[in-house]
Amino acid sequence: MIVRTVAELRAQVAAWKADGAVVGLVPTMGALHDGHLSLVERARAECGRVIVSIFVNPKQFNNPEDLAKYPRDEARDLALLEGVDAVFLPSVEEMYPAGFASTVHVERLGDRLEGTHRPGHFDGMATVVTKLFTMSQADVAFFGEKDWQQLQIVRRFVTDLNLPIRIEGCPTLREADGLAMSSRNRRLGAQARAAAVAMHDALQGAARAVRRGEGADMALRVGVEALHVAGFATVDYLELCDAETLEPVGTLSRPARLLVAASIDGVRLIDNIAV
Ligand code: PAF
Repeated sequence: MIVRTVAELRAQVAAWKADGAVVGLVPTMGALHDGHLSLVERARAECGRVIVSIFVNPKQFNNPEDLAKYPRDEARDLALLEGVDAVFLPSVEEMYPAGFASTVHVERLGDRLEGTHRPGHFDGMATVVTKLFTMSQADVAFFGEKDWQQLQIVRRFVTDLNLPIRIEGCPTLREADGLAMSSRNRRLGAQARAAAVAMHDALQGAARAVRRGEGADMALRVGVEALHVAGFATVDYLELCDAETLEPVGTLSRPARLLVAASIDGVRLIDNIAV
C-alpha cells in the first residue's frame, strides 16, 4: 500500500493498532540498497506491521548541489519494497506545509563531526525524524549503524522529548571488499570505487593500533595519510570517540567508536567501526 498523506497514514496505523499489531518504521530517503533492505527484514521479523518512509528531506542537505544529485527512483524502490505493509511517500508540501517554522536541535552531540562539516544537517534530520515518529505513531524504528552519529542523536532526542518509540540500531552492511553500503557509492567512478575500500582499511588499521595500546593521535594520523595516498582528496575527520557521547577520547576506557568522513571522486563517504 502506498500512502502519501499524514491523514491516510494515521488512519491505517490506528486500524493496525486496534488489531493489536506492533508497528515498525524504517525511515529512508529512497535509492534503496541491501543495507536498507536489511533494516526492512529486521523490522518485519520484529513487528506485525511495517512502514517504510521514502522522503528526500531538503532540510538536511546543507549543499543544494548534493540535494539535486541525490539519486531518486521511486518505481525501483517500490518494487524492492513489495510485501511491506505501507510505503509512506509524502510530498515536500505534506511534510513542510506553508508556515512551517519549527526545528529539533540536539546540542553537543549534533554540533561535532558531521555537525561541523554539514551545518544544519542534523537539525534537518532530527526535525524530519521527529515528524515521521509523530506522524506514524510507530512503536519501533530501525536505523543503520552506518550513520552512527545520526543514531546517537535520534536516541538522545527520543529520550529528551519523551517520544513513545523504541530505537533499534542495525549493523552496517558492507560490500565484499569492506566498503560500507551507501546510496552515494553508485556515484563513484570505477577507479574511485576500487580505491574507496581504503576507508574501511584505514578504520581497521587505526582500530588495531589503538587496541595494541598505541597512542590514538599517531594511529589517526597514519589513517589519514593512508586515505590521502589511496586518492581521497579531503579527509574531514578520522576520530576516536566515546561511542555514546561522541566526545573525543585518547585511550580505551569505555566503548569507543572510530568515525571517518572523506571525499573521493567528488563523493563524500562516511563510515565507522566499534573499537
Ligand atoms: O539516514 C537517512 O536516510 C536519513 O537521515 C533519514 C533518517 C531517513 C532522515 O531523513
